Amino acid sequence: MANLTTDWLGLQLKNPLVLAASPVSKDIEFTAAAVEAGAAAVIMHSLFEEQLIHEQMGAHYFIDTRLDLDAEARSLMPESDLFPVDGEHYIYMLKKIKQRVRVPVIASLNGATPGGWTSYAAKLQEAGADALELNLYDVITSKDISSALVEERQIAIIESVVKQLQIPVTVKLSPFYSSLPGFVAKVEKTGAAGIAVFNRFFQPDISPDELNVDRTLHLSSSQELPLRLHALALLSTQTNLSLACTGGIHSGMDAAKAVLAGAHALQVASAVLQRGPQAVRDILHELDLWLDKMNYAHVADARGVLNLHSAPDPHAWERLNYAKMLAGWQLRKVF
Ligand SMILES: Cc1cc2nc3c(=O)[nH]c(=O)nc-3n(C[C@H](O)[C@H](O)[C@H](O)COP(=O)(O)O)c2cc1C
Repeated sequence: MANLTTDWLGLQLKNPLVLAASPVSKDIEFTAAAVEAGAAAVIMHSLFEEQLIHEQMGAHYFIDTRLDLDAEARSLMPESDLFPVDGEHYIYMLKKIKQRVRVPVIASLNGATPGGWTSYAAKLQEAGADALELNLYDVITSKDISSALVEERQIAIIESVVKQLQIPVTVKLSPFYSSLPGFVAKVEKTGAAGIAVFNRFFQPDISPDELNVDRTLHLSSSQELPLRLHALALLSTQTNLSLACTGGIHSGMDAAKAVLAGAHALQVASAVLQRGPQAVRDILHELDLWLDKMNYAHVADARGVLNLHSAPDPHAWERLNYAKMLAGWQLRKVF
């Protein structure tokens, strides 16, 4: 058996597999079963900026009565029943999970704009969170908002949270930056301890027959992994932050690929939601078999072996290779 122990965000994990933020943490027994199956840490589902703003504004009654009076305000703010006030319930769940499992528990805050809601981070630390993941989920729908403004807002959020906490902070990023390495360098300067790549964006589809937007949330498949592998391979040579891969890890081979690209931690949600805690056991077992087969005594020996500097052909990660690949494409006879 290979040694799977991993340092992630300064936390000593028994292996790199972490339960990603998802509804799993809303069920303490499901969470405990996944930890029993081998998960080395638990990231809780997120507490959203919108929930906390409502809480800080004095809860539903205040918002609803105000919205009744103010038509413009109603168009600007989500309905209060869409975002139930549950900051206190979140802390209750965090404490319950901490009591139930013997692995690090990471709280998650999800927001897009700097503001007082980030002060909740300190409450999560006080409640016993071992680290905090900030999910900077933003959906820009207006041409008046520049990418520079979005990045400034994100850095301001990270700085404000890092400043308040002694526990490590990791930031879950979207894939949509003009210069991902450039943005990650700014994140590193804030004092954050890690990043996770990438947020899986909610992608509404269109139902042509119903002439409507289809809001079904689909789980991932391994096909989503290469986008993450590319980012990890680039970033692992350019940052000292802990790197987590989130998106598309469904098998031990997927896990091995993420490690080879440079990941310290492997966050898994869809596989666990689809196959239950057994998915954790299977992924870890397959990763272990692969490490043995490749003669890696420790998972750290495989980390980054195929990153931008260390791959046998590092240019495989770069733009020129795209041009070569297209030039070499063989047209099959299909007509
Ligand atoms: C049903 C569901 C709920 C999720 N809820 C959250 C959440 O509350 N906060 C968050 O940061 N990510 C959330 N995620 C994203 C996951 O943490 C993870 O990053 C993403 O699903 C990619 O990993 P996967 O391919 O293993 O599913 C959710 C994902 C799913 C499928």
